[in-house]
Amino acid sequence: MCGIVNCNINGIVKTFPVIYGSLNEKAINISTLREQTGYITFDPGFKNTSIAKSSISFVDGEKGILLYRGYPIEEIIQKCTFLKTSYLLLNGELPNEKQLHNFSYMINQVNISNNNTKILQIFEKYPINTHPMGILSSLSSILEFMQEENNNNIFIHLLAKFPILAALIYRKKHGLSPVNYDNTLYYTSNIVNMFFATNNDKPNYIIVDALDKLLILHADHEQNCSTTTVRLLSSAHVSLYASIAAGISALWGRLHGGANEAVIEMLENILHNGGNIKKWIEKAKNKKDPFRLMGFGHRIYKNFDPRAIIIKQVAENIMKKLKFNNPILQLAKELEEVAINDSYFIEKKLYPNIDFYSGIIYQAIGIPKDMFTVMFALGRLPGWIAHWKEMRLNQEPLVRPRQIYVGYKKRNIL
Ligand code: CMC
Repeated sequence: MCGIVNCNINGIVKTFPVIYGSLNEKAINISTLREQTGYITFDPGFKNTSIAKSSISFVDGEKGILLYRGYPIEEIIQKCTFLKTSYLLLNGELPNEKQLHNFSYMINQVNISNNNTKILQIFEKYPINTHPMGILSSLSSILEFMQEENNNNIFIHLLAKFPILAALIYRKKHGLSPVNYDNTLYYTSNIVNMFFATNNDKPNYIIVDALDKLLILHADHEQNCSTTTVRLLSSAHVSLYASIAAGISALWGRLHGGANEAVIEMLENILHNGGNIKKWIEKAKNKKDPFRLMGFGHRIYKNFDPRAIIIKQVAENIMKKLKFNNPILQLAKELEEVAINDSYFIEKKLYPNIDFYSGIIYQAIGIPKDMFTVMFALGRLPGWIAHWKEMRLNQEPLVRPRQIYVGYKKRNIL
């Protein structure tokens, strides 16, 4: 489909082509606007700007739809594992049995053939109070220089190494010695095993299942802040490793992935201060108060976040199955109920997002607060890689926005 729009700029009509997406999104291609008219566009936060054409995931914020390569998230969560989902995101199609087996085999090969001595040596240099996201980001960059000669698949190398880095960070911080990667275990079982194994006990299936679902839900979300960061670096032909390191830093922000940590801190704070939900809702509504209801609101979802609906069920299931009695889940449910019925939140279309319940699941699993965003990064990795790859394959140009300069006019040093 093709089309045009006519724009009347200062009495002169100019024509611009319209680009259509496969699910009816329409964009005006303004790449010749400045050339034709002398004007540029102004769109802080890129609230209304599409940065590229992409075929990886699709979000309809009004209808609460999320698709990975065309498949609804509700179906993926029921029929796919995280590894299968990763393959889908990276390669565009679901794998058959043999392809999935090879994918898993290649990951195992990296982790069997590589030893982690070099990583551990570097690891020793970090002060113990370094935030796990800072460590993960810098180690991701360094990984580039730790590739074995026989391993030239950088995508597989990163997917293989990320769980090891995450587990090392967790265990080191807790004074525990590393647990080896076990090539007989599934990807997410390995994560659980490398985090928590004490003796030769098998990873708890309930935990593996809940974590696998969380990883799937986090795997991609089109042009979010960290993915855009990765794409931006890819456009400058920065290596995959350094681009992922930048993506991790972007994810760390409290308005983005860091919200999962902020949600639990907020809930603990509310509980600690007597649990008066109404008081905190009023604080969130008060423009003079910097407090925001963490885990609420989303740039794109203005109706409901389909991931939040799934995650709430996962949270309830895991609490029940593990007989984990945490007053925080009850508080979160009450807070949600009050907020979604409050006119401020209704008018501003603020609903619970993915981060509202994810921290509760991590807590039930036994993952400490400062590791929550690391878990998010583990899930988002295949999405970041897919976007980095897409930028390069589509030969997208260097991302370099313009600005409206509002500083001094030209002046001289007196
Ligand atoms: N609590 C109270 N008020 C809010 C909230 C909130 N959580 N979120 C937005 N608002 C208000 C905001 O004050 C503004 O009011 P006004 O129009 O009167 O100035 C209005 O709603 C629009 O907010 P915005 O910040 O302009 O909207 P945005 O699309 O730029 O922000 C957001 C999206 C996610 C940054 C924001 O909703 C927020 O800060 N939420 C809390 C942090 C959070 O949960 N982040 C996780 C996002 S989802 C996962 C991810 O991306 O990683």
